[in-house]
Amino acid sequence: MAKTKTYYFCRDCGYQSASWLGRCPECGKFGTFDEEVLKAESGKRKSEGGNILSAPKRLQEVTYSQTPRLCTHCGELDRVLGGGIVPGSLLLLGGEPGIGKSTLLLQMALALANHRLLYVSGEESEEQIKMRADRLCSSEVGSRKAEVGSRKPDGSDLSPQTSDLYVVSETVTQRIFEHIDAVHPELLIVDSIQTITTEDLDSPAGSVSQIRQCTTEFQHYAKTTGVPVLLIGHITKDGTLAGPKVMEHIVDAVLQFEGDRNYGYRVLRALKNRFGSTAEIGIFEMQEGGLREVENPSEFLMSHRDESLSGSAVSATLEGARPMFVEVQSLVSSAVYGTPQRNANGFDLRRMNMLLAVLEKRCGFKLGVKDVFLNLAGGLRVSDPAMDLAVACAILSSNVDMAISPRDCFAAELGLNGEVRPVSRVEQRIAEADRLGFERIFVSKYNGREIDRRRYHIQIVAAGVIEEVFRALFA
Ligand code: TYD
Ligand code: MG
Repeated sequence: MAKTKTYYFCRDCGYQSASWLGRCPECGKFGTFDEEVLKAESGKRKSEGGNILSAPKRLQEVTYSQTPRLCTHCGELDRVLGGGIVPGSLLLLGGEPGIGKSTLLLQMALALANHRLLYVSGEESEEQIKMRADRLCSSEVGSRKAEVGSRKPDGSDLSPQTSDLYVVSETVTQRIFEHIDAVHPELLIVDSIQTITTEDLDSPAGSVSQIRQCTTEFQHYAKTTGVPVLLIGHITKDGTLAGPKVMEHIVDAVLQFEGDRNYGYRVLRALKNRFGSTAEIGIFEMQEGGLREVENPSEFLMSHRDESLSGSAVSATLEGARPMFVEVQSLVSSAVYGTPQRNANGFDLRRMNMLLAVLEKRCGFKLGVKDVFLNLAGGLRVSDPAMDLAVACAILSSNVDMAISPRDCFAAELGLNGEVRPVSRVEQRIAEADRLGFERIFVSKYNGREIDRRRYHIQIVAAGVIEEVFRALFA
């Protein structure tokens, strides 16, 4: 009989302890310890790569083959990955349930029709995957290839058409690796890691030790064979990846798929990427027939508004290397209750409170007795500091009830003394504003010097303090 041992794991950070603890010494959270039973021999299991001899080498002796990245045929996904999937990499795609993780990866798999892929699902049956694939294929958005079909690993067709996308519904890693031996895929997709278990452990699917063990097994497979593995992971209510932090350390890249359910837009970000930048974002729109790539995000971030409406200002922000024009809307009204209400959608509330204090002090508005609401059009969350000036101007515009021209835009940070501070890559923002047909852009005068004004048609207003911007807009 197998000897068993009981351990306690922190649900949050994966800290392991021999006894139950009320407070995790690692992450400091209370009541996060779960009991898990491990079979004693799990540690003795021989690893498949045990026969590979490793020895230290001089750096100049190390050679590597220039295997190109696997291009996913999805521009937005490639952008976030840093130009495609690196061979032998282990990627984790996280997101709330229903946000579209399975759709995104299945759509990618369908577009990669000339590669041999294995899609392992622990959540859906083969028939359900096929139904989703048909739905994606029946629209132009979902896939460019109509002749895509899918097969079970034993070779029986799920559809009369054939391609090299194999699907299987399976939850045990040992059997997944048997399927891999039969199929020899070039890319493995696992949906989702929380449903996968290994026979070596007795703990339930989704527990810390299972997730950690299964992720390690897939990592081992990816590193020894060079086949990239894409794992789907769930996200808990507070926005962290369900499962321990250790999973984030094991994988090469953590991508997060997020968005507001009320809007069709989805944003893909890299929280960690060993092979690319984490500043890039990919934007998609969820449509009836799947996810559509949004190449020009400014199209939905600016509402088409009436010129006479006050409280709106357009910010020239950058996400990664890509300029995005976001419309900030604000409503300032007299507070009905003793404590004024403050609310910000898509913008940091504390930052907004700080900007309100600056406006109160520098521009002399009694904003402390007003309700202030702020909203970014399109439901996007933006953290670029260059948003500050647009936010301040939208609030001022609503407060004095005078409209800002829709052909004005802003790109500057605000300091605590009301100074208009420079932002990074201002030329790129100006060039994009020029291209989109804006007539004026407000920037910091400290940015102003580096700009070659002759290159643009757009009028560049360089300001030193917020009062100057206020006078230029409303005087
Ligand atoms: P799904 O990929 O199942 O989410 P996840 O795997 O992240 O849990 O996406 C489910 C949602 O996407 C569902 O609410 C319906 C919507 N959807 C569309 O709007 N169009 C489509 O073509 C597909 C396949 C899904
Ligand atoms: Mg899913």
